[in-house]
Amino acid sequence: MKKIAVFGSGNGSNFEAIVKYFQGKNKDIEFICVSDKKNAYILERAKNLDIKSYHILFNDTLEFLKENHFDLVVLAGYMRILPKEVVEFTKIINIHPSLLPDFKGKDAIKKAYESGVKTTGVTVHYVNEEVDSGDIIAQNTVVIENKMTLEQLEEEIHRVEHNLYPKIIENLLFGESL
Ligand code: GRF
Repeated sequence: MKKIAVFGSGNGSNFEAIVKYFQGKNKDIEFICVSDKKNAYILERAKNLDIKSYHILFNDTLEFLKENHFDLVVLAGYMRILPKEVVEFTKIINIHPSLLPDFKGKDAIKKAYESGVKTTGVTVHYVNEEVDSGDIIAQNTVVIENKMTLEQLEEEIHRVEHNLYPKIIENLLFGESL
């Protein structure tokens, strides 16, 4: 049985996409959901999906990871920078809504949109102690069409994220689906 912890601070749409992807598969896998924010919508989604969830304060993260064994920690909208001791303790991946190394940090979709680039995308990468800087695992591009609004770009980026992230997780855990 593979045990996966998905960490998020907000909406949780990637978390939901990941859980639903694996619901349709016959895989020996268990998800749990972790949020540093007590009222984050991701915790509500976990409840609706019947996934065990935990409110873990940022400073208690290492202890929590030490108390539980996870095969993989998945960040999905987790808005904190994990310290060296945590990123070195276990394998952690993240999804970022740009083609890294471009547009690191917050508001990446807006930054790309306003910069005038014609192609942006989504990156899945390993997490190290610097923001959005670990080794890249996979990227998908998104073309910014003429007349596309920022809202349309955001929607397209999220659609691509929800498609890519579960497949990368499956590939890392089971070596298939790519
Ligand atoms: C996603 O765009 C992800 O790339 C970024 O934060 C957002 C989280 O969205 N790291 P959600 O919480 O999964 O809906």
